[in-house]
Amino acid sequence: MLAEPVISLEARYYRDPEIFRVEQQGLLARTWQFAGHASQVEKPGDYFSFSIAGESLFCIRGKDNKIRAYYNVCQHRAHELVKGEGNAKLLVCPYHAWTYELTGELRSGPNVNSVPGFDRSKICLSEVALDNFNGFLFVNLDTDAKPMDEWFPKAREELAEWVPDINRLKPVEWVEIPEKCNWKVSVENYSECYHCSLNHPTFATGVIKPETYDIQPQGHVLRHTTECQNLDAMTYPIDLSSNEHAGGYSSWFLWPMFSFQVYPGNVLNTYHWRAIDSDHVVVWRGWYTVGGKPSDVVKNLSIQDRETTVEEDVHLVESVQRGLKSRGYRPGPLVLDPKCGVNSEHSIKALQQWMREAVDG
Ligand code: FES
Ligand SMILES: [Fe+2]
Repeated sequence: MLAEPVISLEARYYRDPEIFRVEQQGLLARTWQFAGHASQVEKPGDYFSFSIAGESLFCIRGKDNKIRAYYNVCQHRAHELVKGEGNAKLLVCPYHAWTYELTGELRSGPNVNSVPGFDRSKICLSEVALDNFNGFLFVNLDTDAKPMDEWFPKAREELAEWVPDINRLKPVEWVEIPEKCNWKVSVENYSECYHCSLNHPTFATGVIKPETYDIQPQGHVLRHTTECQNLDAMTYPIDLSSNEHAGGYSSWFLWPMFSFQVYPGNVLNTYHWRAIDSDHVVVWRGWYTVGGKPSDVVKNLSIQDRETTVEEDVHLVESVQRGLKSRGYRPGPLVLDPKCGVNSEHSIKALQQWMREAVDG
């Protein structure tokens, strides 16, 4: 009996606002989401606010140097506690001046001692799970969330090996790329290289050897591996003897919306997808150097990347989104080569399986 081909995800998953709503409430609130970088909270009391799944949150470094994340809401009558970023010795609510320790405990409030039975020790900010992943802060709104090391086996250790300076890095460039497509179209496009030889001439003939490119699931990581071309033609100098991975290229996509990518020379860069609505996503490309030192090499890489691979992909994903709205589209079979490799879409099969589970349970 002939095996049935695996069919690509139905178009409604990419265009139905109701499915987007389900993802906001479910997927985004149950997975590890990027909040910011540890260098944004270097000193005790440093904080920054951000939002995930429609919730306002903030990260703050305590006097004990531990970084914590909280819902941005006072436990009195729900005023927001902080705005933007800053430094605070105590968290003082702007509404009635209830005051919290950086560990979340209520310290005091005007006239609260006049309340019979008022128990300060029962009141504290709602904390959210946070993991400092090699300097990248991820939070999970799910109180029963499995740790990142279970979701993303080996990724933490592998990244630290591939980027020996990872704990000394700071962001230097943020490139914002709005795309008129569903976030899943953009993530899928990132997660296969079946389109690369036709659409990414610089990528496919520059750094990597396309015939060796492969993308494999590793828990909920999609791990990209490849051999590199002779690096003599690289636009920046690379000391191949400095460490084992100095001449390598690799990438770790962490389901559902973040990716670490390492270029030869141990140059780290990241992708952070932010889903806006069912038809729009913004991709943030982050670039880093040791201590945040300005670097022409990294600056030029970020410009070249924006003008080539990124630009090429924007046109692809926006065309796909228009196509997904066509009455004439019937989802086609994925090209699953049992040998995997660059011209196989086995990574899309894994990804679409996670996408279905996120919506249908
Ligand atoms: S709402 Fe914060 S002190 Fe009243
Ligand atoms: Fe691409």
